[in-house]
Amino acid sequence: MSHPLFRKKSITAILADAKEGLSDATHSSSGLKKVLKVKDLTAMGIAAIVGAGIFSTIGNASFQGGPGVILLFTLTAICCGFSALCYAEFASRIPVSGSAYTYAYAAFGELIAWVIGWDLLMEYAIGNIAVAISWSQYFVNLLEGLHIHVPAFLTTDYLSASRAFDAASVEIAKGTSIANLPETMRQGYTAWLTAPHIGNFKLIADLPALGIVFLITWLVYVGIRETRKATNLMVGLKIIIIIAVIAIGFFYVAPANWSPFLPNGFGGMMKGVSAVFFAYIGFDAISTTAEECENPQRDLPKGMIYSLIICTVLYILVAIVLTGMVSYKQLQVGDPLAYVFKQVGLNKISYIISFSAVIATASVLLVFQLGQPRIWMSMSRDGLLPKAFSRIHPKYKTPSFSTIVTGFVVAVPALFLNLTEVTDLTSIGTLFAFVLVCGGVLLLPAREAGEEKPKFKIPYISSQFIVPVLFIVGVIIFWKNFLGLFDFSNGWEVFRDKLPFFLFVILSTTLTIASFIKKLSLIPTLGLASCFYLMTELGYTNWMRFLIWLVIGLVIYFMYSRHNSKLGKQQMLNN
Ligand code: ALA
Repeated sequence: MSHPLFRKKSITAILADAKEGLSDATHSSSGLKKVLKVKDLTAMGIAAIVGAGIFSTIGNASFQGGPGVILLFTLTAICCGFSALCYAEFASRIPVSGSAYTYAYAAFGELIAWVIGWDLLMEYAIGNIAVAISWSQYFVNLLEGLHIHVPAFLTTDYLSASRAFDAASVEIAKGTSIANLPETMRQGYTAWLTAPHIGNFKLIADLPALGIVFLITWLVYVGIRETRKATNLMVGLKIIIIIAVIAIGFFYVAPANWSPFLPNGFGGMMKGVSAVFFAYIGFDAISTTAEECENPQRDLPKGMIYSLIICTVLYILVAIVLTGMVSYKQLQVGDPLAYVFKQVGLNKISYIISFSAVIATASVLLVFQLGQPRIWMSMSRDGLLPKAFSRIHPKYKTPSFSTIVTGFVVAVPALFLNLTEVTDLTSIGTLFAFVLVCGGVLLLPAREAGEEKPKFKIPYISSQFIVPVLFIVGVIIFWKNFLGLFDFSNGWEVFRDKLPFFLFVILSTTLTIASFIKKLSLIPTLGLASCFYLMTELGYTNWMRFLIWLVIGLVIYFMYSRHNSKLGKQQMLNN
């Protein structure tokens, strides 16, 4: 028998548990409603994907990478594509609410399942904090356009204001006038100066971010049907706007802006990984609604893949137009799409884009606020979290307690946290989930007796020779980075940033050997390696923050979950 930490749930047991959960609920006249079809799932995928990333963080990525950001969007889409196929295979095989958490329970066992569940909570909660902050920025711009002025200390976070004040003070000391400070710096500076205070502590908080999270949480609380209607409506609007940006922007492109293509080299382009990857996050979230789908085995894979393909095409076109309309040097702004239209004199369009950004980011919030409680619920059903987390509302038929907890977990930090930090943390956490999902497909057990034939399976291509060839090509391309690993001359500060790449070297070598010997399936193998590589681009500090989060999770697991695990209790009874 396996070690208790690696006890695995069989796929038939997972499916039976989910059914039992539903029939219990039906008994008490509740239970999740099965109403979602391919169209809704694709819409929900797009709702989750198109948001703060393409409307906001793409600006900084374009500034750092230049027009090369187009290439980065393409490469990132390929990595996400591998992962989407792996998610699709799992979703078809195990169509229950817990997403990657449940998949890991079948593939790797309880401890890793807990780790990934905990990691997904970070992706969804921290990701939504980022989206709420970005929503608030656009919303405040919109209000300003309507001549409604909210005091700056009520619309910004403490850290941003404090940093902006320090930076502005330096500029002012050099003789720059306040009116000439960059816009975000000026806002932060004003917030700091005008905020009421208790002693030395300034009362600065982002109230619109709190407000939107509470509003969306309420919507998610009252029901999946209402959520579906709202999602479809918002998706329609944002797709129209993105297509309009592409179509109108196309006429204002000056091809000279695309040259040089990589002004800061490959390294400069890769600085945008976190922002660009953040823009793609979301297709995975729809796997949390498996129990609310009419035919999850068939429809979930389609929904995920269609939404990713549609968004990839739109994103690449947006990146082409954006970097073609103005010089990349001008793009370090929080509202790049609105900004470029203002630059070419189309102020009205710029205003419409700001309005759509408010709608687009709200729909991302909606899907993640919907997905998160369903993961809490799955973990609670397995006994890894207290029972209250799987309570279903008798009237609205949604996971009520988890939804409320989710609301507070996202809304309160959104008052205080800073956008860049939370975006990076979301990206590293999500990439880690993708790594485990791709790895999980490689370890997925064979079909069990009595298990239905899955309706979607990744086509098998042997990695036996392809991966070793790619490895050799990689070694040639990254030779300099590889040699640099052993250069300690620049001190710990520089060396520590190379540690993640060092892990990548170990992982890719192991994968190459395993591919050659075991003829692993190519797509999940490439997904695993490529997502891990993107993680290495996120720097030491983000790795440390992420590890701290995982350690907190492990402490909870060993103090509570391990002793309350349903599977653990069953296994004890059987012995
Ligand atoms: N992809 C989502 C966004 O860009 C998280 O907002």
